[in-house]
Amino acid sequence: MANYGHFDDAQREFVITRPDTPLPWLNYLGQDEYFGMVTQTAGGYSFWKDAKLRRLTRYRYNNNPMDNDGRFLYVKQGKSVWNPGWKPTRTKLDAFECRHGLGYTRIKGRKDGVEVEQLMFVPPQENLEVWKVTVRNKTKKTQKLSLFSYVEFCFFEALNDMTNYQRTYSIGEVEIEGNAIYHKTEYRERRNHYTLFGCTRDIDGYDTSRDAFVGVHNSLGDPKAVLAGKCSNSRAYGWNPVGAHQVNLSLKPGAEETFAFVLAYVEQGDLPKFDAPFVLNKTKGREILKRFSDLKAVDAAFASVKQRWEDLLSIYQAANVPSVPLARMVNTWNQAQVMATFNLSRSTSGYETGIGRGMGYRDSNQDVLGFVHLLPDRARQRILDIAATQLSDGTCYHQYQPLTKKGNADAGSGFNDDPLWLILSTCAYIRETGDATILDAQIGCADIPGSKHTLRDHLEISVAYTRRNRGPHGLPLIGRADWNDCLNLNCFSDQPNESFQTTANKGKGDVAESVMIAGLFLYAARDLAGLYRYLKQEDEAKRIDGYYAEMLEIVESQAWDGAWYTRAFDAFSKPVGSKVCKEGKVYIESQAWCVLGGAGQTNGRAKKALQAVDKYLYRPGLGCALQYPAYSEYHLELGEVSSYPPGYKENAGVFSHNNTWIHIGWTMMGEGEKALEYYLSICPAAKPDHDVYRSEPYVYAQMTASHLSPTPGEAKNSWLTGTAAWSFVVASQYLLGVRPDFNGLTIDPCVPKAWKGFSVTRKFRGVTYTIEVKNPKGRSKGVKSLVVDGVKVAGNTIPVPAAGTTAVKVEVTLGA
Ligand code: GLC
Ligand code: GLC
Repeated sequence: MANYGHFDDAQREFVITRPDTPLPWLNYLGQDEYFGMVTQTAGGYSFWKDAKLRRLTRYRYNNNPMDNDGRFLYVKQGKSVWNPGWKPTRTKLDAFECRHGLGYTRIKGRKDGVEVEQLMFVPPQENLEVWKVTVRNKTKKTQKLSLFSYVEFCFFEALNDMTNYQRTYSIGEVEIEGNAIYHKTEYRERRNHYTLFGCTRDIDGYDTSRDAFVGVHNSLGDPKAVLAGKCSNSRAYGWNPVGAHQVNLSLKPGAEETFAFVLAYVEQGDLPKFDAPFVLNKTKGREILKRFSDLKAVDAAFASVKQRWEDLLSIYQAANVPSVPLARMVNTWNQAQVMATFNLSRSTSGYETGIGRGMGYRDSNQDVLGFVHLLPDRARQRILDIAATQLSDGTCYHQYQPLTKKGNADAGSGFNDDPLWLILSTCAYIRETGDATILDAQIGCADIPGSKHTLRDHLEISVAYTRRNRGPHGLPLIGRADWNDCLNLNCFSDQPNESFQTTANKGKGDVAESVMIAGLFLYAARDLAGLYRYLKQEDEAKRIDGYYAEMLEIVESQAWDGAWYTRAFDAFSKPVGSKVCKEGKVYIESQAWCVLGGAGQTNGRAKKALQAVDKYLYRPGLGCALQYPAYSEYHLELGEVSSYPPGYKENAGVFSHNNTWIHIGWTMMGEGEKALEYYLSICPAAKPDHDVYRSEPYVYAQMTASHLSPTPGEAKNSWLTGTAAWSFVVASQYLLGVRPDFNGLTIDPCVPKAWKGFSVTRKFRGVTYTIEVKNPKGRSKGVKSLVVDGVKVAGNTIPVPAAGTTAVKVEVTLGA
């Protein structure tokens, strides 16, 4: 059982202690418009705003786990050639450490008494990244060495860059001025931007041609220029432009030298494009390098990265939490992951190529749920952007492009869960901020741009869409799929080159129904009724209550299978996820959403549904499989769900995202032990064996192979998953139980009986609440007393404090 690193909680860092992790362990840089991904060996790439249209550095695919391109430093010292991050040379180091922090990564490698430290970060509001480099002589002798930097440039449009060599091998253009390399491919024609890669210290050489630096028959593991100890000051004409600097150093015993490399995306704006024919106007580039030549400016920029995160995280911090993995996730890493998913949706990671998927309608709405406390204004804008891609009849584009904010015709529409998620994100925003004016924002509709439709209209359009589109059992039609993208009950796809999701309906019409959407509708309707009550519109609330009652009746009369909720009805109205099925008898999503929506509360079914999950889907330390038994053959009438090998992805893999809903279910039942046990079963920080789990121990992965697979416990597709938002909701609002409500902050923890207590600091609507929870009687749930600034109050919602109050002290005692 090998161990590759540990958490440094005080620094909010994950410390990787050996470079050969089971998979590349990734971190993100940047949270405004400039983004980078960086692994423990300095692999990864950078882009501005849109990983497809403004890719700055190149990453050659299909590159997981090889992770072969990145932001490399090479050291040539005597005969030896090495990288502080171990790769690409893989020369054995005397010491290695990588610290992934929030918005930065610090890699330190040592060999033969020389230590090189590379700190990479993106300063707030800047379109650039800085690598602060320190070289230390730890020996008693003077050390002479050459340090080389290396990146490979991408021709901005990443798909073309990767596929259209007949063109791209002839277009590459660069310029060199002083210590700076300018990558300006296509600048003469329609681009008004370039990439700058500069060094803040004088250099002793450079290369911009890959063939010159790496060598035609060499690899990044043995680049020609580094082996020779000398760059050849090459200028790239076509082929593959790179940026490499050479810095010769002579360090006295104990001496060190610090300088920086800056990689920047520069938009020329209104400046004249050229100084002379073929000569770029470099005013902006020079200004950037000058600014960061001052090491104080570098350090101040780094300090502001750290400070920004401390400010963000101070909005929700828990202390004295008896579960260490839970504390780590809720206080630090889960919030970092929430930031990444909010910014990048499912576009750019070690598994998402940055050229495929835009912002998902359902995905982005759910991402808001875990993000809204951090930057509510950005959440507000996101909600409005998403809603504007909905059509006037309620249909939603499944994805939209972040640069244009327009619905993506390729991904199409007809995923019938999509409309309802908008209600959840909107209500979450209003609960957090109390700001209901968002409802009046006029955003129009995708099919009638400029129309007077407000966000509130969109919520009603969504409700109406689900009510209108129902099937033979009265349940909502599923369309192309619901949350489970792979439950394609109308597609009947029989050709390998078709997309499961968007292939034309080859069935007998659109009659397949989703019980999960029915449950989601119940949840959304309750949310919306609550919102109308907050707005003091009781008639509207009652109208929605009526819709709720009607759907609840249908769920209970049509979708109970005897011991759990049926998942769906297929195009022949046969049940999916039922005891009558040979495989796929029990599904997780319908248990989750029927329970969350309030079904089964009065007739004992909610408890039974969760017990079915426990019996058929859950395994300690692994989590819940999506369904049971896994499909062993392809079912034309079910689609992609039955295409995966058993135990992976949507065919009975542990799909972390849907597990979180079950965690909430257990807290609703007051089962604190179960809720925490389940939470920890998928928690990356609680995985004991890195070699089995393989993915990053500090962020959730979309999927872990289940007990029904040959590789149980092996995770894939880390970082960009809806699990991030939902698990933060679980930990912060349902386990620790500090939950924003329309009328104030509600305190409703659900914890193991053995917990003696914990505390939470929560900034909410301008007030800092210090909440101390005590559990003297060993209960799981139920607030016995709530004392607010010394005054006992009824119920478990903290009353809105008097205007001008900035701090409130809350004492909570659990008990019946
Ligand atoms: C992926 C998709 C998400 C979907 C899930 C289940 O994570 O991004 O939209 O709900 O798979 O199929
Ligand atoms: C596949 C994946 C699913 C994902 C979808 C996105 O169906 O299995 O997880 O949501 O592709 O298009």
